[in-house]
Amino acid sequence: MRGYFGIGVEGISKGHNLGAVLRTAHSFGASFAFTIDAYHTVKEVKQTDTSRSAIHLPFYEWNTPDEFVLPKGCQLVGIELTDDAVELPSFRHPLNCAYVLGPEEGSISEEMQAKCKYIVKIPTKFCINVSLAAALTLYDRTISLGGYPERPVRPGGPDLDAVENWQSPGYRRNALSRNA
Ligand SMILES: C[S@@+](CC[C@H](N)C(=O)[O-])C[C@H]1O[C@@H](n2cnc3c(N)ncnc32)[C@H](O)[C@@H]1O
Repeated sequence: MRGYFGIGVEGISKGHNLGAVLRTAHSFGASFAFTIDAYHTVKEVKQTDTSRSAIHLPFYEWNTPDEFVLPKGCQLVGIELTDDAVELPSFRHPLNCAYVLGPEEGSISEEMQAKCKYIVKIPTKFCINVSLAAALTLYDRTISLGGYPERPVRPGGPDLDAVENWQSPGYRRNALSRNA
């Protein structure tokens, strides 16, 4: 997949939620992860981050939104259920970005939202668990930027020829440039 992404959470208090976010980030190929103003216990993080992401993934801890910095050219995308947020299925993910999510009780702070280039919501009736919101966001990035073949019109997977074509480097290059 072209580009890179990071993901983090502001104000998180439950270590097992952070562990689930970190494991998911590691699994989907994040380049870095972070927290802002977090107050969890490390022991709880290890209970759900069984992939030991800290060994494989750069992890930043910032105390306040003021301290927060991103690599040059990396856009911040807030994942939050607000009235004027873009709906995730219609959102074009930036090639270089960091996703930030909010705490278990509350939302991304106004200070942090002001730093976001976009705010994106997952179309649900009400808030879901923060680690699930992270997983859905990264899955959506994967299906929209991963260069996968088009879904067939009929139920089922693509035909074998399409899969073979997709696996050939030329086809993938063209598919990726169509998605760029
Ligand atoms: C459990 S929610 C926070 C509680 C929520 N703000 C409330 O009090 O109703 C934790 C975080 O998950 C993310 N989240 C949960 N559901 C979401 C959705 N449908 N769309 C976008 N983000 C969501 C947001 O980042 C949110 O701050």
